[in-house]
Amino acid sequence: MKAAILGTGSWASAFGSHLCHKWERVVLWGIEKQQVDSINQTGTNPDFLGNVALPPNLRASLDLADVLLGAEIVFVVVPSQAVREVMNQVAASPAFQAGTPVVNMAKGFEVSTLERISEVITDELTNAGLRDQHPVAVLLGPSHAEEVAQEQPTAVVLSGGPDGDWSHWQTWIAGPFFRVYTNDDMAGVEIASGFKNIIALAVGMADGLGAGDNTRGTLMTRGMFELSRLGTALGGQQETFFGLAGIGDMITTCISHHSRNRNFGEAVTNGDRTPEEILAGSVQVVEGVHMTRAALKLSDKLGVELPITKQVHDVLFSEKPPRQAMRELMERQLRDEFGG
Ligand SMILES: NC(=O)c1ccc[n+]([C@@H]2O[C@H](COP(=O)([O-])OP(=O)(O)OC[C@H]3O[C@@H](n4cnc5c(N)ncnc54)[C@H](O)[C@@H]3O)[C@@H](O)[C@H]2O)c1
Repeated sequence: MKAAILGTGSWASAFGSHLCHKWERVVLWGIEKQQVDSINQTGTNPDFLGNVALPPNLRASLDLADVLLGAEIVFVVVPSQAVREVMNQVAASPAFQAGTPVVNMAKGFEVSTLERISEVITDELTNAGLRDQHPVAVLLGPSHAEEVAQEQPTAVVLSGGPDGDWSHWQTWIAGPFFRVYTNDDMAGVEIASGFKNIIALAVGMADGLGAGDNTRGTLMTRGMFELSRLGTALGGQQETFFGLAGIGDMITTCISHHSRNRNFGEAVTNGDRTPEEILAGSVQVVEGVHMTRAALKLSDKLGVELPITKQVHDVLFSEKPPRQAMRELMERQLRDEFGG
């Protein structure tokens, strides 16, 4: 059995290491020679996963055809805004064999089209005339790469369309420390996974302002309310938002010191660098920044009010001071808890 993983970042490396327990061959595709060489020659990926030792059967390659050739499944683990470009190359490759499922693991929406990432993948397969040959799914949930690499018990959700045998793949992806649930609400799973990063940015900003647990709990709870309003408007099921990809990932991301979105929010409150400068200094992707743009556009388009998202957006893109954003949230008109 061979798995192809697109990406050589934190999550691709940690997930690939996990798969190596069960799969004979796991090959990562990268675009940066230094990362590929490091994985193959030293068995580490220092830029993305510190000194964690990667298993010897985890290989990396710069050659996409080499990675795809003979792979029974393809996992997409690059930043959400890069997925279209990457899938365009995959769909054009003669090594991409018919029947291979494609599984999105990126968390976010494409900002330019406001599509979910599985929709972006589907678009690219359709454009290449391959849609009928490749079932599409998502594998998402509370799964910090650093902890998966340490084999900390983790649970995620595999959600795909009716054309895939997902219970078969569930068995192949699961392991003793990596529990996989299925869920047929692919839209809900994807929306929840992207949205929680916005709330993590808000919690990070609150932490940076010295706020306490009352504030964190409030932001997460009201963030869940925003998620369920936007998510149901986009076709997700309410139940999904109270599952692993919803409240599970919301809690994990908002409380964790591993969360680059929470940490980014906190860094913004320092005031010594602008959000763009902080972003430029980060080797790793901060998906919540893109997702904030996408969610605010969706909020305007669908007429769904997202007060926390709006304030995060204004801090990131309109130079609003975080303390003012917090005050404006607190001073909104008083109302019924679930009335708006
Ligand atoms: N890190 C985690 O714990 C984690 C967990 C679950 C999901 N995710 C999601 O997985 C996705 C990837 O996250 P990550 O943490 O691995 O990111 P990362 O920043 O650690 O790595 C990103 C990788 O994508 C590659 N890349 C960037 N642009 C590319 C392009 N145009 N073409 C090809 N490759 C490109 C980079 O070279 C790098 O190997 C994100 O959407 C993230 O939200 C991450």
